[in-house]
Amino acid sequence: MHKFTIIQGGMGVGVSSYQLAKEVSKAGELGVVSGTALALTFARRLMRGEQDYVDALHSYPNQEVVKKIEKKYLDQLNIDGSYKMVEMPTLKPSLSFIELMVVSTYAEVYLAKKGHQGVVGINFLEKIQMPTLYSVYGAILAGVDYILMGAGIPVKMPLVVSKLTKHETVSLPIKVYGDTNHTEMIFDPSLLNLSHIKLNRPNFFAIISSHTLGAYLMKSDFGSPDGFIVEKHIAGGHNAPPRGNYLINELGEPIYGAKDEINLEAIKKLGLPFYLAGGYGNPNAYKQALDFGANGVQVGTIFALSDESGFEPHLKKSILKEIIESDIKVITDAKASPTGFPFKVALALDTLSEEALYQKRRRICDLGYLREPYQKENGTIGYRCPSEPVEDYVKKGGKIEDTYGRKCLCNGLVSAMGLPQKRDGKFELPLVTSGDEINLVKPLIRDLSYHAVDVLNYIKS
Ligand SMILES: Cc1cc2nc3c(=O)[nH]c(=O)nc-3n(C[C@H](O)[C@H](O)[C@H](O)COP(=O)(O)O)c2cc1C
Repeated sequence: MHKFTIIQGGMGVGVSSYQLAKEVSKAGELGVVSGTALALTFARRLMRGEQDYVDALHSYPNQEVVKKIEKKYLDQLNIDGSYKMVEMPTLKPSLSFIELMVVSTYAEVYLAKKGHQGVVGINFLEKIQMPTLYSVYGAILAGVDYILMGAGIPVKMPLVVSKLTKHETVSLPIKVYGDTNHTEMIFDPSLLNLSHIKLNRPNFFAIISSHTLGAYLMKSDFGSPDGFIVEKHIAGGHNAPPRGNYLINELGEPIYGAKDEINLEAIKKLGLPFYLAGGYGNPNAYKQALDFGANGVQVGTIFALSDESGFEPHLKKSILKEIIESDIKVITDAKASPTGFPFKVALALDTLSEEALYQKRRRICDLGYLREPYQKENGTIGYRCPSEPVEDYVKKGGKIEDTYGRKCLCNGLVSAMGLPQKRDGKFELPLVTSGDEINLVKPLIRDLSYHAVDVLNYIKS
C-alpha cells in the first residue's frame, strides 16, 4: 500500500480530469480520474480532434482497434457542429462499443500516469453497471494503481479486479427491474487479443457510508476490498440516502438524522486502511482525521474548482465569481438523479438548477448511462430512464411520479465539462454538482483561479 494521506476524489463526469489527477499524483498523493461515461466523452474529444486523446489512442497496444476507432470518430463532427451519436450502454454491447469502452478508459488512465512515477486511481459508480467490466479492464491495461467504487454495494469487484488482471473471463450480476432470470454480464478479455501483456493488480477501495456495509464487504466470498473511503452525506455528487423511510424538507432535500451518523470507531475496528470523505478539504479536518487514526482523507469539492479540474473554464470562473460575491447555495436534491439517490446540485447561474431553464429543456435520452434495464412482459429486456420523455417512460411501464423533478444528469454533467450536445442551434445546459462546503474555497481564490497544488498545500498547512 502506498503512503498518501490525501485522495483527490473521483468526480464525474470528467471533473476529475487527467490533468487534475496528474498534478495530485506528481505531488505524492493519490490523483483519481473519473471513470464515468468515458466512452462517450472520449468519442466526443476525438470528434473535436483533441490531440492529447489522439496520442493516448495511438499508444493503445492493438493498432487494428486504434484504426477502427480513428476511422469512426476522429474529426467526425456533424456538419452543424453537433456530435455524432455514440452507442448507449446495454447488456449486449457491440464489439466496437466494447473496444471503445476499454480504449477510452485506458486512455484516461494513460494520460494521468504519463510522465511521472506517482500513483493514479480511477473512480466508478456501482450503479452504472453495464460498462463496468470493460472499463475496469481498460484501466488495468493502462496500469491503474487504485480502483475506487461508490454509489452501491460492490460485492463482487475484488474478484473481478483480480481476474481481469490475469485476463480471465469475468461476470457481474446486473440489476434488471422485474428480472426473473438472474441476469449477468460476462466478459472474456481474450476477445481483445491482449492476453500476452503482464498486468499488475490494482488495489480496490470501496466507498461506504456505514460500518455494516464495510463488514459485509470484507466477508464477501469474492474477496475483501483493500481499503475503504468513508463518505459523509455532505460530500459532492451522489449521496447515500438517509436510513429507512425519510422525510423531505421544503427545498426537496432528504432529512438526515442521528441514525445516519457514521460510527467511525466501528470503521476503525474493521482494521482496513480507511480515508474519510465529506468536508475534509481543510487543515483542521485533515488533522482530526489523521489524529483519529485514518490513513488520510478523500477530498472533492475544493479540487473541483481548481484550474486543473475538468469543469468548463468559463463555467468554473463564473462559479468562483459567484462564490466571491455572494456565496453559492448547494442543495441535496432528492429527485434530480434518475438513480433515485440524493444528488447535490449547486444553484449556479445559467445552469439547469434554475427552475425556468429546467422547465424549458425538451426531454431527450440519447446518452443513456443511467438507463435502467427492465424485463418486459414478453421476457425480453428494455431500457428506461425517469429523466427521458415522460410518455416514453410511462409506455415502458415506469410510474409517472418517478419522472417528477428528474434531471438529465448525462447531458447536464457532460455539458458542465465542456462537451455539450448542440440541438437546433443551441447547446445543452450544464448541471453542476458540488459538496456542501463549496464556499470554503474562498481563501484560495486569486484572480478567479487556484491550482491543485495550492489545495494540497492548504490542506496540509
Ligand atoms: C463535482 C463532484 C463530482 C463528484 N462525482 C463523484 C463520482 O462520480 N463518484 C464518486 O464516487 N464520488 C463523486 N464525488 C464525491 C468525491 O469523490 C468526494 O468523495 C467528495 O467530494 C468528498 O467530499 P467534499 O466534496 O466535501 O470534499 C463528487 C464530488 C464532486 C464535488
